[in-house]
Amino acid sequence: MVNFGIIGIGNIGLRHARHIVQNAGATLTAVCDTNPHTKAAVQNICPDAVFYPNYQQLLQHPGLEVVNICTPNYLHAPMTTNALLAGCHVVCEKPMAMSVAECSLMIETAQLTGKHLFVVKQNRYNPPVAVVKKLLTQGLLGNILQISVTCFWNRNEEYYRLSPWRGSKTKDGGCLFTQCSHFIDILYYLAGPVTGISGMIQNATHRGLAEFEDCGAFLLKTHTGALVSFNFSTSAYQKNMEGSITLLCEKGTIKIGGEYLNTIEYQCVEGFEIPPLPAGNTANDYGSYKGSMSNHDKVIQNVVDTLQGKDQIATNGQEGREVVRIIEEMYACVVG
Ligand SMILES: NC(=O)c1ccc[n+]([C@@H]2O[C@H](COP(=O)([O-])OP(=O)(O)OC[C@H]3O[C@@H](n4cnc5c(N)ncnc54)[C@H](O)[C@@H]3O)[C@@H](O)[C@H]2O)c1
Repeated sequence: MVNFGIIGIGNIGLRHARHIVQNAGATLTAVCDTNPHTKAAVQNICPDAVFYPNYQQLLQHPGLEVVNICTPNYLHAPMTTNALLAGCHVVCEKPMAMSVAECSLMIETAQLTGKHLFVVKQNRYNPPVAVVKKLLTQGLLGNILQISVTCFWNRNEEYYRLSPWRGSKTKDGGCLFTQCSHFIDILYYLAGPVTGISGMIQNATHRGLAEFEDCGAFLLKTHTGALVSFNFSTSAYQKNMEGSITLLCEKGTIKIGGEYLNTIEYQCVEGFEIPPLPAGNTANDYGSYKGSMSNHDKVIQNVVDTLQGKDQIATNGQEGREVVRIIEEMYACVVG
């Protein structure tokens, strides 16, 4: 049994707790949150887990092997490095950190301590994403010519008021970090490294709620020279409307769409048709807003399998850092 602890028992921390408890190869023995009100919710899921109000205390918990970092973005780097130094493997929620420099320190600490660093990128398990990745890897689509990425989601006032870090430039970072990092990761996963060419961002409806943009339009270029248009907004009226990536390739055109990269919207591929896919998991539903496909069961399974020598890390620190590098580059290329 792999022995897990969780730091941060908010929306996503509770999901980690559920999936650790449901995994036959895992046990949840320690949890931590500075907010004492979270204790009841997590103990509903796992009554035996010891609750700590301070994460340094959790890191001393006897026998702890893996620590899942589910705290606000700005705490990922310091908590990950301290957990690694305490002798634990780490599962870090997205975005990996707030800067490439922080990510590099996390990777170096993992190397120094000989511990594993897993970064959560659960959309890679979405059935349409997995099948398109396979087609690209097998060369069935030929070279990528052009890509369009769209994230038209809704993040309302309640979302920003629920947690004090959300909307803060220094603690949240911006929509590219918190909402778009999912889409940037899939862009990178399918097309390889990309470069920011230019972009515009503005805050259309979230003044007073967020210190940063709520929409943006970017032009990027893949390492093979394909053009990428990347459009996002958190002002979609009332609800999430679209989370998509369309690939125009030499031998086919495919749109992965739906609200959260969960369907194949259209396809036309030389000599091949993607058969109907399993529906996959539903979106993470937090009540007043919805997130990405809820594949954290597969994330936890990958950790257990890796530690038992049956698999390798699905998304490592280097890949998590690459997403943060692209985000930094996108913000750096903003004009106006
Ligand atoms: N992979 C995904 O689909 C996904 C979905 C949602 C959130 N996330 C990521 O997970 C992280 C948390 O997001 P959330 O929506 O659960 O936030 P949240 O605000 O609901 O939860 C964060 C929790 O961390 C606790 N916390 C804050 N400072 C702490 C500290 N010093 N020590 C211990 N606990 C502390 C807070 O009290 C809160 O309970 C963010 O980085 C977010 O980007 C990922």
